[in-house]
Amino acid sequence: MNAGFPVVRPRRLRRTAALRNLVAETALRPADLVLPMFVKEGIAEPQPIGSMPGVVQHTRDSLRKAAAEAVDAGVGGLILFGIPAAKDGRGSAADDPAGIVQLAIADLAAEVGDATVLMADLCLDEYTDHGHCGLLTADGEVDNDATLERYAAIAVAQASAGVHVVAPSGMMDGQVGAIRSALDGAGFADLAICAYSAKYASGFYGPFRDAAECAPQFGDRASYQQDPPGSDEALREVLLDIDEGADMVMVKPALAYLDIIGRVAATVHVPVAAYQVSGEYAMVEAAAANGWLDRDRIIMETLTGIRRAGAGIILTYWAAEVARRLR
Ligand code: PBG
Repeated sequence: MNAGFPVVRPRRLRRTAALRNLVAETALRPADLVLPMFVKEGIAEPQPIGSMPGVVQHTRDSLRKAAAEAVDAGVGGLILFGIPAAKDGRGSAADDPAGIVQLAIADLAAEVGDATVLMADLCLDEYTDHGHCGLLTADGEVDNDATLERYAAIAVAQASAGVHVVAPSGMMDGQVGAIRSALDGAGFADLAICAYSAKYASGFYGPFRDAAECAPQFGDRASYQQDPPGSDEALREVLLDIDEGADMVMVKPALAYLDIIGRVAATVHVPVAAYQVSGEYAMVEAAAANGWLDRDRIIMETLTGIRRAGAGIILTYWAAEVARRLR
């Protein structure tokens, strides 16, 4: 049948679930998963987000409860996004010690303390009335260097409120360095920075803009977020951020950028995170609601793929559910 030599049979190791499990090359741990959470000022009840079924804008109370449940499920961390009641041109609520995200950080520091890693998204788009991630010039351009001063102030406000890690997501040049020196100067030399280093200008953020009420009022983010065709550019951004003091780096979105995750993970020696963003979540939930995909299976398959590509840390709206399932 086969000219005298034995057929090589990779299928031998796939015969039973136990064999497959023994030789599995990639594993997900609850501690690898970070849950993004939204907290909104001035609401009495959690508000569902239409384009993200199962995700809500929390009140301070519901946030505490959901955070405690997620930590109980074993997630590795939480990342907070605040939605203020009032927005203005400079995003004043972002670094107000009484701003919603600072209050929520303090609530969670009291509720879960060092039992998890408390992270905060550090950006202006949730706080500005124009919805851009930075301050604007008179001509409506995003002013890089003026924005850095705002980011530095936000970092110190979040650190003072008790966060463990700040996560700058605005893609301004020099943001990690500006934040690092502000933190060091304010006595927070031990506080880590997880930089959204390779953040692409992506259509996959669509549902997030409902969740955080931060759609740009004019234009788009293409002059500061990365252009989707780029790959070397992502490495350049990542290496710059590490030079400026990033302790961890992030690639975002995840599924359409697995090659970037792989390249970054093969190049750097700091922890690499990937963000499975709102649109990735919404696509699966919508297809599953129509009966077109097996929801639970697709969730595990996408997360495993992101892990296999090289991300040690994965931000996902399914973090608590999957952590519970993995235990
Ligand atoms: C900016 C920020 C965004 C997301 C995280 N941080 C929105 C954007 O850049 O437009 C998107 C996350 C998601 O889509 O789940 N503060």
